[in-house]
This record gives sequence, C-alpha cells and structure tokens, in this order.
Amino acid sequence: MQLTYYGHACFSVEFGGKTLLFDPFISSNPTANEAGIKPENLKADYILLSHGHFDHVQDAVAIAKNTGAKVICSWEIHEWLNKQGVSNTHPMNTGGKWAFDFGTVKCVVAQHSSGLPDGSYGGNPMGFVVYNQADGSFYFAGDTALTLDMQLIPRTCPRLKFAILPIGDNFTMGYEDAAIASDFIHCNRIVGAHFDTFGFIKIDHKAAKQLFDAQTKELILPEVNQPFEVK
Ligand code: NI
Ligand code: MN
Repeated sequence: MQLTYYGHACFSVEFGGKTLLFDPFISSNPTANEAGIKPENLKADYILLSHGHFDHVQDAVAIAKNTGAKVICSWEIHEWLNKQGVSNTHPMNTGGKWAFDFGTVKCVVAQHSSGLPDGSYGGNPMGFVVYNQADGSFYFAGDTALTLDMQLIPRTCPRLKFAILPIGDNFTMGYEDAAIASDFIHCNRIVGAHFDTFGFIKIDHKAAKQLFDAQTKELILPEVNQPFEVK
C-alpha cells in the first residue's frame, strides 16, 4: 500500500483503487506548512475523521467540498458537516462496520475525547480498521490511550499488515504504550503519528526506534509529504 504523511495525524492511503484521506489538518499544521502542502491540492475519494478535535478536522469541510469525497465519521460529526453544506457523508459509530466500494471499514474504540471546534459534541472518538481481500488490512487508531479494547481487534478483524498509532504522548499514548498496543493488536509494523507537531508532543526518535528494535518490531517515522510503501 502507498501512504503519504501530511504531518500530525493526516495520512492518505491508496486502498482498493481509492484515495482515503485521514484526519485532514493542514492550514495551521506547522509541519505541513513547512513542507508547502496546501489543502486545495489534496486528493481524496473518501475522508475518514477519527474525532472532532481541530487538529483532525480543520480542513475537512474545504477538502470535502473541493473533492466531493464522501466523509466517514461519527453521527455527530456527520450532523456538524451537514450544517456546513457537506452532505456526502456516511455516519458510523463504535463497533459498527460497513462495506464500501474500496473495502470494509470497522469502527473501533478510541479512548480519548471529541469536542468539535465550535464547542459542539463530536460523539465517540473512533479508530478505523480498513480491509479488503486484495490489499489486506490496516488500523488507523486516531487519538487514543493504550486501551485493553485493542485486544478485540485481532479477534474481530483480518490480520493487520500495519497500524498507524499515535506515539507523541501528552494528548495520546506515547511510543512506550504504542509498543504494548502492537502486542494487543498482533501487529509488529507500526507507523507513528501525532508526534513532533507541537512542543507538547516532540519525541526522541532514537529512543523510540531503539525500544521497538529491542522488541523486534518496526517503527516507521514517516517524512512529511514523501510517499512511501508499507507491505
Ligand atoms: Ni484529539
Ligand atoms: Mn489530536
């Protein structure tokens, strides 16, 4: 699968012949700005929103309107989008799955909060497991603490090829807990997210890599705006 990292928790993944864009946060994302990424240049067939915080939804309305992408999100975020003129939405909630034309999306528990930028309630924060027969399966955790609920993923979803986990600490789990999460989800190939964007979440890359190496796990720290393959 080809992935592109746009900084913070924003990724695009080429999957089932479609471009899936996760948690678009570009306009005031310092690492995206530094790399010259513009929201109007992003492509998407689908936009998946894990929760309502500004650092995950900031550019969702603009990109949805610009691309016509369908937005997959909680019921409450779907209502918030509809009020802003984004009607191509698919509401879901934790525990539910749906078969789209690119594959199945299963919404899994994220232990976090989910207020929207205007103060309205964003519903449950969620992670997504995305899978199909040809491309396999991956997990986008969104913002979450380490939680025992992750142990349900290997029982309810096809075996993961990789997982995108937050590793920046302070607002989410840090890389030490992400290494434990990788045991819970039976997946040793982890792509780090939600790190280095702001002072609160700067991490020691070497220490993080060493911790994963010592457990014969792979930690990929993606470069902003550099497409990369994960097998
Ligand atoms: Ni958040
Ligand atoms: Mn966040």
